[in-house]
Amino acid sequence: MPDQDPVSAFRALKGQRKIVCLTAYTAPMAAALDQHCDLLLVGDSLAMVVYGMDNTRDIDLDTMIRHGKAVMRRQENALVAIDLPAGSYEDSPQQALASARRVINETGAHGVKLEGGVAIQAHVEAITGAGIAVMGHIGLLPQHAESVRQFRITGKTDEEAAQLMRDCEALVKAGVFGIVMEGIVEPVASVVAAACQVPSIGIGASPNCDGQILVTEDMLGMFDAYIPKFVRKFATLQPDITAAAMAYNQAVIAGDFPEADHLYYPGGEKKT
Ligand code: KIV
Repeated sequence: MPDQDPVSAFRALKGQRKIVCLTAYTAPMAAALDQHCDLLLVGDSLAMVVYGMDNTRDIDLDTMIRHGKAVMRRQENALVAIDLPAGSYEDSPQQALASARRVINETGAHGVKLEGGVAIQAHVEAITGAGIAVMGHIGLLPQHAESVRQFRITGKTDEEAAQLMRDCEALVKAGVFGIVMEGIVEPVASVVAAACQVPSIGIGASPNCDGQILVTEDMLGMFDAYIPKFVRKFATLQPDITAAAMAYNQAVIAGDFPEADHLYYPGGEKKT
């Protein structure tokens, strides 16, 4: 029997075990994460994490495609989805489909992710109708914020809770293969996740989601400009990188680096 396609395999994990997802923006990071993740997201959070921008709104489609290609060069195991950036899909279903087609054709990734629910149902339908896999994203929508100060946790009122449920249902109806649920209060996140017919992937949402995602640089302790409450640091690499830079600085200034072993010689290796 042929292997299941990656998107079907991802969907089939629902109810079997928790689903493991992380972001990846570069080839070396993809190589390090690929075997340990069910999904790698080339998230537009790279605008803030890699490019130092104040929000995720100013990254363009070409940049997302360039990073998507880098990740796909090291992909072997994980499903790879790429964010459609702000400005590349909201205008019309036709614009959304054209952007999704570019991403998939130019990177070879398995799917795209869009932010929004009811408001973009027709846009998602245009993409899934063309046979391209889509991941949804509801709750806190970073593309709607000018800066982290505008990031707003949702589900605090009955109306917000009802809207989240409507957003989830609209995306499922539009044919998404999974939904990221970001920044949603409990027990609303649990209730929406329980009703969700495709894998629900939490970030700052419920442990009862079908899986979890974090920004890799957050969980590695490499990005300290903004640390959301929902992050657990599984490593603290920023101080390690700083310590390595200090050691390098001292070695170069002291003339301890490079050593003979690091040099090239006309006749091959130097005999010591
Ligand atoms: O852009 C991103 O990295 C994301 C995740 C935080 C889910 O959308």
